[in-house]
Amino acid sequence: MIGTSKEEGSASDAKSSSYTPPPNVIVLPQTKELVALMTIIRDKETGRSDFVFYSDRIIRLLVEEGLNHVAFVEKTVITPTGVEYKGLGFQGGICGVSIMRAGESMEQGLRECCKGVRIGKILIQRDEETAMPTLFYSKLPEDIASRQVLLLDPMLATGGSAHKAIEVLIERGVPEDHIVFVNLVACPEGIKYLLDGYPKLRIVTACVDTCLNEKKYILPGLGDFGDRYFGTA
Ligand code: URA
Repeated sequence: MIGTSKEEGSASDAKSSSYTPPPNVIVLPQTKELVALMTIIRDKETGRSDFVFYSDRIIRLLVEEGLNHVAFVEKTVITPTGVEYKGLGFQGGICGVSIMRAGESMEQGLRECCKGVRIGKILIQRDEETAMPTLFYSKLPEDIASRQVLLLDPMLATGGSAHKAIEVLIERGVPEDHIVFVNLVACPEGIKYLLDGYPKLRIVTACVDTCLNEKKYILPGLGDFGDRYFGTA
């Protein structure tokens, strides 16, 4: 069993953290709706179908916010009334990259927001001898260097996998400031590790939790996201 409380007898609520994330971490507004959705998925009594349904709702909010942080260009159109409307258009292509396996849960939310979006995949696992996060597989859009990338992984814990994934993207020519890392729950340790290595990265998250436990689960967290989402617990 993973940690269920920070310390014996301690509790965490939606507003208790004194941690202030750096400016390139964008935390969704803690509306009552979002806190209620998070409460459902954090509850250990929540069954799989509710976990999937409510996680998907949060993912949709996150993807919408993530899309606010890609580049835009000014764009003027003529409305059916014959009047000019000076608005914005997305600059260049967008793509998603999911960190397998849990990140795959976020692909559908991205597809619902971006019609026909290309989605690459990266598999990183811990090397059994060195314990270092190691790239096992990647399949990315050919032209990824010219795209804005939404990197998808629901839990930012130690940041080891995401750090490696970003290294892979940068090696493929994606500028650091074209990457927006989207997750449901982050923690200060993971944020620090990623931003120390990649200071121009943007992180969009639904909440920043307190800390990691000795097994590197986020507290209060929600347990193993992939197991709960894919029903492999
Ligand atoms: N991955 C998870 O699924 N949960 C955590 O708490 C940390 C990493």
